[in-house]
Amino acid sequence: MTLTRRQFLQKSALASAFSAMPWPLIASEVPVQRLRATESTKKLINGSEYSAADVFAFNQTVPGPLLRYRQGDLVRIDFENELPEESSIHWHGIRNINAMDGVAGLTQPAVATGGRFRYEFPLPDAGTYWYHSHAKTWSQVARGLYGPLIVDGPEDPSVDHDLVLMIDDWRLSDDGRIDEASFGSLHDWAHGGRLGNWMTVNGISHPEFPVKQGSRIRLRLINAANARIFELQSRLPATVITQDGFPCTQVERTLIELAPAQRVDLIVDIDDSPLTLFEARSGEPYPALTINPSLTGATVAKTALPQMAIQTPPATIDLSIPMHMQGGAMGNLREAEYEGSMRSIRELARQHQKVWAFNGKISHHHERLARVERNQVVSIDVWNDSRWAHAMHLHGHHFWIRTASGEDLSGMRDTYLFDPGERAQLIFVADNPGLWLFHCHMLEHHAAGMAAVIEVS
Ligand code: C2O
Ligand code: CU
Repeated sequence: MTLTRRQFLQKSALASAFSAMPWPLIASEVPVQRLRATESTKKLINGSEYSAADVFAFNQTVPGPLLRYRQGDLVRIDFENELPEESSIHWHGIRNINAMDGVAGLTQPAVATGGRFRYEFPLPDAGTYWYHSHAKTWSQVARGLYGPLIVDGPEDPSVDHDLVLMIDDWRLSDDGRIDEASFGSLHDWAHGGRLGNWMTVNGISHPEFPVKQGSRIRLRLINAANARIFELQSRLPATVITQDGFPCTQVERTLIELAPAQRVDLIVDIDDSPLTLFEARSGEPYPALTINPSLTGATVAKTALPQMAIQTPPATIDLSIPMHMQGGAMGNLREAEYEGSMRSIRELARQHQKVWAFNGKISHHHERLARVERNQVVSIDVWNDSRWAHAMHLHGHHFWIRTASGEDLSGMRDTYLFDPGERAQLIFVADNPGLWLFHCHMLEHHAAGMAAVIEVS
């Protein structure tokens, strides 16, 4: 293929943007894809008595199209915003170039109605990721503006079936439409977030997946819910191979916890009876999906799974960032600094809908929680001094987790669930320059104050 001068100039501009990245550019280009955000409708509950829900969709589907690449690919996506409001796309978990991270108001201006934005970035890591709106996220994600992004790598174990399972809960009213009246409810924002009453996997209530008898399958669980923590229960043991895309020590489990935005990849050896995964956290086990061994044919050998390399944290920490998280219902936050002055929690809640604070302060995108020099080893020392669980997500990096007793959990994550009262250190090498958001992925908590920016220079 010959290069025209114009193409050549574009390529060199791209190459200089990538030269700021900590990993070598080995990207191979893939064709440009389009992601068009529009209003759409989707029937979430079957039956003529139910109406279709008014959703926000990428390319008219909820979830949006499966984006699948190989490690090292150079992704090029034209985002077209045909929604009646501004939007942007964040590539959750990708160690991205900062300008491509998609945080409206921080790493790019929001894309207006009728506007476009070209996302162009390489994929440094294999694994299970997802993409979602990052403008008015609490509303747009609840309306379905998300999709899966899978990166295949050379170390992936061989399986017969590879199932991508995007799990969500919707808050629907009696007619099957999205409950609009409760958007922005202060009660939700100060409690556990917008919890739904209708569970879907890949947009379907209790879907069934045909697989071969005796097959080995990979399940890629993705929690796309605004705020709900799922716990999936399996009759057969499942081997956890990655969390948030990154390898961990392989353990067999029959109960898998999945906080908002987290991913867990499992290998399951299927027998010849159906396997239903139940959501068990809500108390009454609820059938989420069924894997049905209704197909026959040759299957892969059930050899021992290769353990993928796991990175361990550096021995010393260069910089600690204390983070005291307070607020929410039944909490101990009496006042906090907001827009330059101390205000009572009552005023913050009633006039500004802010109910959570980091270190006594409710910050904005234009303020920095910390400035970090490139390649420093940083620890965010989190104390969840509230009565609520929080799924804390760091953009642009994966981190190690060191518990209060000094134990390092296996592997790296981009989202970690803090129980009420929990303290832990999130340790990362700040090797990716830019402005990175750190926030709770319970999206109502994020909107109500749980967000901060870390600058890596
Ligand atoms: Cu899943 Cu700030 O993002
Ligand atoms: Cu939270």
